[in-house]
Amino acid sequence: MRNILVTNALPYANGPIHMGHLLGYIQADIWVRAMRAMGHNVTYVCADDAHGTAIMLRAEANGISAEQQIANVQKEHIRDFDGFNVLFDHYDSTHSHENKARSEEIYIKNREAGNIAIRPVTQLFDPEKGMFLSDRFIKGTCPKCKAEDQYGDACEVCATTYNATELLNPRSTLSGATPIEKSSDHYFFKLPNFAEYLQKWTRDEGRLPVSIANKLDEWFEAGLADWDISRDAPYFGFEIPDAPNKYFYVWVDAPIGYMSSFENYIKTKRPDLSFNDYWEKDSKNEVYHFIGKDIVYFHALFWPAMLEGANYRTPTGLFVNGFLTVNGQKMSKSRGTFIKAETYLQHLNPEYLRYYFASKLSDKVEDSDLNLEDFVQKVNSDLVGKVVNIASRCAKFINTNYDNKLSVTCAEPQLVQSFIDAGDSIAKAYEAREFSTAVREIMALADKANQYIDEKKPWALAKIEGEEQHVHDVCSVGINLFRQLAIYLAPVLPVLATQVQDFLKLESFDFESRKHVLIHHEIALFQPLMQRVDPKAVTAMVEASKESLKATATPVTTEKTKVKNINKKAEPKIGDADIIGIEDFIKVDLRVAKILNASIVEGSDKLLQLTLDAGETETRNVFSGIREFYQPEDLQGKLVVFVANLAPRKMRFGISNGMVLAAGNGEGVWVISPETGAKPGDKVS
Ligand code: 2FM
Ligand code: ZN
Repeated sequence: MRNILVTNALPYANGPIHMGHLLGYIQADIWVRAMRAMGHNVTYVCADDAHGTAIMLRAEANGISAEQQIANVQKEHIRDFDGFNVLFDHYDSTHSHENKARSEEIYIKNREAGNIAIRPVTQLFDPEKGMFLSDRFIKGTCPKCKAEDQYGDACEVCATTYNATELLNPRSTLSGATPIEKSSDHYFFKLPNFAEYLQKWTRDEGRLPVSIANKLDEWFEAGLADWDISRDAPYFGFEIPDAPNKYFYVWVDAPIGYMSSFENYIKTKRPDLSFNDYWEKDSKNEVYHFIGKDIVYFHALFWPAMLEGANYRTPTGLFVNGFLTVNGQKMSKSRGTFIKAETYLQHLNPEYLRYYFASKLSDKVEDSDLNLEDFVQKVNSDLVGKVVNIASRCAKFINTNYDNKLSVTCAEPQLVQSFIDAGDSIAKAYEAREFSTAVREIMALADKANQYIDEKKPWALAKIEGEEQHVHDVCSVGINLFRQLAIYLAPVLPVLATQVQDFLKLESFDFESRKHVLIHHEIALFQPLMQRVDPKAVTAMVEASKESLKATATPVTTEKTKVKNINKKAEPKIGDADIIGIEDFIKVDLRVAKILNASIVEGSDKLLQLTLDAGETETRNVFSGIREFYQPEDLQGKLVVFVANLAPRKMRFGISNGMVLAAGNGEGVWVISPETGAKPGDKVS
């Protein structure tokens, strides 16, 4: 029996769990359940990743404290994981005393080992907000191609990377202010001290997928750089020891959350376990992190280096999954494919998704697609049509004609034995995270079982006098085969497994238990196990996801302000426009946004460039033909209504992503503004 600690990447405490997250959580949960079913001792922990600027700003936008923000989100995350039966032994937060103490300890040990450096860094500073700005909160003109509205790290138009200080006309996306350059001391983790160690570490057997290790080689060749681990106040996080007003960058204490969550698990629930048994340098116990491919850099370089520098063990392996697309494309709020866990659960059975993901996952770092039509088809044909069908075809005879008891002998010992034997290869596939292989092998067995029943036709035999024993034998074999399948599927479908365990009155459902064939065994009354996926429920889920940004529908009024000019152009009369039905109208996704910044567009006398806070941390760039009527400063901070699902338009000055609504009567133009109380992202209807 192996002792294994498993973690998932810690979700940020500023947003909901969605399908993209669930791919990795469901993958890990299946693996944990499979390893337990094989008899290993597995502990599975996770936590919310609670620190950082984004969470601080989200709390500010919600008008609550950061502590309240993270507590609210943690409740939702726990609810969603429970809903999908992602069953952590313990779910913590990185904002805990234990995590603070452990982060300080790891930092101090590294400092004592000479792995920390301090030097000044000049960065852009928002004088209105009184804070340094990370790249994603700065926008400006690309120094190379002069494209407007580019973030502080790289240009999306010409792909040049640069320092935020090189942007032309930079502005803070938080306040719209022009940032100033300011210097302050930063703390660095000397990653190059670990170059040799990491180069070997990443190549250790089983540590990383080979494709990832190859990618990392490119970084080693380019040379590792010191890692900036401090952020100046204001910052929501842990203050660095002996460095007042300097905070650990969120990525320092986030992975340490793996350790502190485990520590809190021991403290609160399992005093029999020992922290050191898992984390001391020479521990023989295994530690695995399930992560997405976007965060490999942190887990394969910084994390093992920090641990090594503090004399702790490093993870045994990193299990890396790719991204999720829905219907072949990036998840999209306007298409309704940005599906939150909560929305899914309001419409569909979580086991469907667990099965579908399992049928797609392998140990490769490949992206997976959730194709909603294929999802319906696969679940209905495999789970309902093949697996559950076996039980419903056989159970009713056992229940009605044979007093709920299976036959006293096994009529097809070879067939049943072949199902038992197949378990070895299925177990291996699970262990290797080749879930799609496991599912394929299980479905091949299900086909075989159905074929057997089709050939024997117990429903026809039951009508023939003298065939009673035959019917009993065939149905008993069918139930035995079904039991094997349910055991093999149990890591993927824990709810179904529990129902089957109750139906078959079995004490154990682990892998080994399958080897005892059920002879003269009593079963319970058969209850329907799983319904078909209703395609209408999938459509309803997608529709609801289109609306899931909605807080409350917001009444809209027209605010008459700032008429700067008279436009004499004739406006169409009411009734001039084509009649459209409600089905066309509801396609228009109208949302509330807040104008974060408005600026004059050089070279255009009609346009203003608007930066909109569109809710859910999304900002939009929109060019609006209202320059004749508004001064940029009059728009700053104003709530407006905009069309969120208008296809982006490439204009001479950049890409316009949406349209701000305004009223016009030939004499003036008035931007439409909702009543106070509406928030960015609210749906307008
Ligand atoms: O990328 C993310 O969502 C991070 N919150 C993952 C952190 S994983 C670990 F290091 F804490
Ligand atoms: Zn550029």
